Amino acid sequence: MKKQITFITGNENKAREAQEILHPIKVKISDIGYPEIQDKIENVATNGAENAFKRLKKPLIVEDSGLFIDAYNGFPGPYSSYVHQTIKNKGILELMKNQKNRDCHFKSIVAYIDKDTTKIFKGKVVGKIAHQQKGKHGFGYDPIFIPKNKNKTFGQMDMEAKNQLSHRRKALKKLDHWLKKQ
Ligand code: IMP
Repeated sequence: MKKQITFITGNENKAREAQEILHPIKVKISDIGYPEIQDKIENVATNGAENAFKRLKKPLIVEDSGLFIDAYNGFPGPYSSYVHQTIKNKGILELMKNQKNRDCHFKSIVAYIDKDTTKIFKGKVVGKIAHQQKGKHGFGYDPIFIPKNKNKTFGQMDMEAKNQLSHRRKALKKLDHWLKKQ
């Protein structure tokens, strides 16, 4: 089993979540960055991991995620970050104004790479786009996302409650399972 892996991210919360899940494997955080190609998030994460591995030459992970809205064929998907920066949650609610189908999901891809293997792990959480923003917790689309079988948005849940359900946790759990079998 690997003793240590590096998480290429600028987001300490993501790294902390990964550390909790992957314990006793040590998760080091590194913000060396990688080019984000415009493609499916599976390819964004894999390409990022390969790029970072060329420089770091140590086992590492890259995570990429997004919100996918069924009524808009998976938009904003790989553009989630840009769309959130530009039209924000208010813009998404405007797009959804006359939509009956509010189904959507978050997806997370964790790409792992070492000298022998490149592998991806997927996590998904399904839910609905709320009719209005609710809650102050979390980040991004959390205030407009209601996970299936719940009546609160991610934004109304504290970090622990959200992380129990999150797409990222599911992907990291699969990575954990695989790493501990090696
Ligand atoms: P990235 O994987 O950090 O690039 O995330 C892409 C974008 O998807 C973020 O900027 C958020 O807008 C959105 N996103 C990803 N995961 C979440 C989440 O757990 N909650 C809310 N928004 C998220």
